[in-house]
Amino acid sequence: MSRTNVHSRMCAGAIAVLFFALSAFSQSSMSLTGAVSSDAEGAMEGVLVKAKQVGSTITVTVVSDEHGRYAFPADKLKPGQYVLTVRATGYDTAPANVTLGTGAATADLKLSKVDTFAHANQLMVAEWQNSVPSLGACGGCHNLSYVLKSTYDVDMWKQTLVRMRNYEPGASFSYPFLLPERLGARPADQDFATYLASINLSAKRMWDFELKSFPRPKGKATKVLITEYDLPRFDAEPHDAVMDADGMIWYSDFTLPILGRLDPRTGETKEWDLPEMRPGFPPGSLDLAIAPDGNPWIARKFQAGVATLDKKTGKITSYSIPKKDINTYSRTTYLAVGPDGTVWISDTEDRMMYVLNPKTGKMTGHETYPGFKWDYSQGRLGIGPKGEKENHLSFGVAVNSKGIGYWADSANRLIGGMDPASGKIKMYMIPTANSDPARVFVTPDDKVWFGERNPSAQKIGVLDVKTGQFKEWDDRPVDPYGIVVDKSGHVWTGGTPTDFVTRLDPSTGESVRYLLPTVNASVQRADANNFTNPPSMVLGETHGAKIALVQPLE
Ligand code: HEC
Repeated sequence: MSRTNVHSRMCAGAIAVLFFALSAFSQSSMSLTGAVSSDAEGAMEGVLVKAKQVGSTITVTVVSDEHGRYAFPADKLKPGQYVLTVRATGYDTAPANVTLGTGAATADLKLSKVDTFAHANQLMVAEWQNSVPSLGACGGCHNLSYVLKSTYDVDMWKQTLVRMRNYEPGASFSYPFLLPERLGARPADQDFATYLASINLSAKRMWDFELKSFPRPKGKATKVLITEYDLPRFDAEPHDAVMDADGMIWYSDFTLPILGRLDPRTGETKEWDLPEMRPGFPPGSLDLAIAPDGNPWIARKFQAGVATLDKKTGKITSYSIPKKDINTYSRTTYLAVGPDGTVWISDTEDRMMYVLNPKTGKMTGHETYPGFKWDYSQGRLGIGPKGEKENHLSFGVAVNSKGIGYWADSANRLIGGMDPASGKIKMYMIPTANSDPARVFVTPDDKVWFGERNPSAQKIGVLDVKTGQFKEWDDRPVDPYGIVVDKSGHVWTGGTPTDFVTRLDPSTGESVRYLLPTVNASVQRADANNFTNPPSMVLGETHGAKIALVQPLE
């Protein structure tokens, strides 16, 4: 039996804080257990309890059950000094220090309600959007609390709206990179600026709307273990995180020209600088794929090309798209590597798909929506080959076992497919209008999976290309963006406006939505860790500078 010391520290922000814990008893499979409660609710289900060893970069989180009990599996916390914190929207407690020996220990947590401003800091983008509607795309790059806490009046908002419009999607507070093109004011800005000045704190001292938060996790959603790894830079923006066959996690940085690797067994990281390909253009990357030979490939976005690292020699090689195709709007955002090592590169704005043979360096370009042209005089409205006015953006790409590539036509409702030998393209129309698919994943049986992230859709979809049939499942309140199917056949998704990740069992239609420990983590790509049983999800918390593993406990 070990001795456990628990100290409590009063936190200035919390209204009342009480932490107690004490007894140490022996229990073989659990290292740290306890009860979570509050005066308002008594025993609390669905409180995320996070344990971080002092000096460590790894945070381990479990969730309290219907009796308010939480328990860390014994093999997850080594002996040492830990700090415990919680995520429970509307509540908080002071960080608690716990010393763990080799045996079991308990630490009970008493939570108190927080004031409105502290509550506001706990809201996800989707919760702000539920509380004050019509905030549009303002939550795409950062938390909406900046918008609601601001004191800008109508004129200040009009200037700010133009400033925001010109940031590139990977722009951060540390690196506010601009789009290559310059965008000016728009007629609708007057009304939107007036609206923003009516809901922020420019004319009142406190909001006159209620902060609406989602209910805490319940039932199966509490049976989960989440491990988060801090990356070595506070300004890291890990967008795609993918696990390779050796269990290493590779990540792209949305903002800076960096390729990273995390060893989830130790938390160790290594980062490589990516060469500049297009001076003066935003340097970050987005998609990341592992080739059959195990080497990572990374889509260089505004740099108009891709790069790969030879793991054995440490050499980085870059490939630009053809010079004649490069223009202001070129954005090679997504890529995939086929079974034969062929690299597919999707230029989202110019709607081109390039197929690269890395052995010969030969790259062939194909239009993903033949005949489509942007009408820049009308903003981002485009004109299709039949004169139809629609948006078409070629987003994520995946290649099936036969070398056929599939991509999502985002801002619309199409999945495209191409046989690279003939260059022939086939389009499949998703049943739900404005579904806005973004990333695609192909299973070994050649089914194409995608998330429908438009807030009016919020579904998970699959296309059987053999029959042309679609099937869809509801994924509210997630705007599913990244998607992966794990070894057990479960589908994982997530999206930026919420901190939920979904695990769907397509055979029963049952979904479980797990809540991440980090507020406004910004969930992007979904990947699977098939080394655990059951398999877990791998993701980058783009705005949390962390990589996370979500492992169901069942
Ligand atoms: C493409 C990314 C992006 C989008 C979309 C975006 N922002 Fe921002 N925002 C930024 C960046 C980068 C910063 C930090 C640099 C700065 O303050 O200009 C920022 C900062 C802010 C701030 C805090 C700084 C300040 O001026 O007080 C506010 C408020 C804000 N944004 C409001 C908005 C609103 C309103 C919208 C929707 C119209 C929006 N943002 C959409 C990138 C974005």
